[in-house]
Amino acid sequence: MSDKKLRVLSGIQPSGHLHIGNYFGMMKPMINWQEKSDLFCFIVNLHALTSVFDAELLAKNTLDAVTDFLALGLDPEKSTFWVQGDVAEHTELTWLLDNVTSMGLLERCHAYKEKVAKGLTPNHGLFAYPVLMAADIILYQANLVPVGKDQKQHVEVARDIAGSFNHTYGETFVLPEPAIDDDLATIPGLDGQKMSKSSNNAIDIFVEKEDLRKRVMGIVTDTRGVNEIKDPDNCALFGLYRLFGTPEETAEMRDRYLKPGLKYVEAKKELVELIWNYFAPHREKRAELVKDPDTIHDIMKAGAAKARAVAQVTMADARRKVGLMY
Ligand code: ADP
Ligand code: TRP
Repeated sequence: MSDKKLRVLSGIQPSGHLHIGNYFGMMKPMINWQEKSDLFCFIVNLHALTSVFDAELLAKNTLDAVTDFLALGLDPEKSTFWVQGDVAEHTELTWLLDNVTSMGLLERCHAYKEKVAKGLTPNHGLFAYPVLMAADIILYQANLVPVGKDQKQHVEVARDIAGSFNHTYGETFVLPEPAIDDDLATIPGLDGQKMSKSSNNAIDIFVEKEDLRKRVMGIVTDTRGVNEIKDPDNCALFGLYRLFGTPEETAEMRDRYLKPGLKYVEAKKELVELIWNYFAPHREKRAELVKDPDTIHDIMKAGAAKARAVAQVTMADARRKVGLMY
């Protein structure tokens, strides 16, 4: 049922080419939400500052992410779609929230702990990342935040921080909840591990066909021969196939796994065509959009104004609550 009162919000970092894990895990569900909720969708370039230190690259990735989203069907008329750094209230609210956030809460965050464990020298931005994310969410009084499993804890932290602010200063923020689609929770990469920009196991959404072919041919399969029965449920190739095939095609492919005769290379060739055809209309739309960067900039300017109008209402209330109005 359509419920335009339900405010759904999520963001994605412009930290590289967007891949089909991002698409199925975040972008497609968000695009679906625009039909049935009051959708707030944004590109989080401020968060990307924690890991991207090349200005030109960040600017390019931001514009690319915006273009990708528009090409994939995000409709700025049906949603509020903007770039985080264009709305200063995100960072302004962050400071108010910093002062009701305990160090312990942030120290327990998995994403921070994992990055430190990987040997990354933590800067304050990386540590404070969840507070900015909390500001992103509660600035718009969002009810539901669709994210991948890896971001669930950050949404819970946002809820804690909102609760702590409300407790200190009185009811101000809606407490958000994470929304996780278990079926799509983790899209496998070429190696069967979670597809990720940083693991070199991703298939980008917008690639040349020859590159797509090379990536798909690189999907790791087991060593079972043509005449052996295969295991669709533990196979990255099938895990990807089912995302692009119709239910009938997927059922048929499952059947072929369970009978002798399937050559993985044949399934891979079919997958190349499925992926290529799936994104064909979006590729065309993208080609049109890149011809006209001024229109893209206008769309983002209008999106930021729409977002700012909402953010300013919340911010005025928060400023009053903490005593910044005198
Ligand atoms: P990456 O791991 O490639 O750096 P991000 O962490 O920036 O991707 O994720 C951006 C969004 O895409 C998040 O909502 C995340 O949950 C989703 N996402 C990323 N990779 C996957 C995947 N393999 N399966 C499902 N969702 C994913
Ligand atoms: N941290 C999220 C990620 O890396 C991106 C993000 C920033 C976000 N702010 C948000 C997601 C607010 C949902 C809501 O994927």
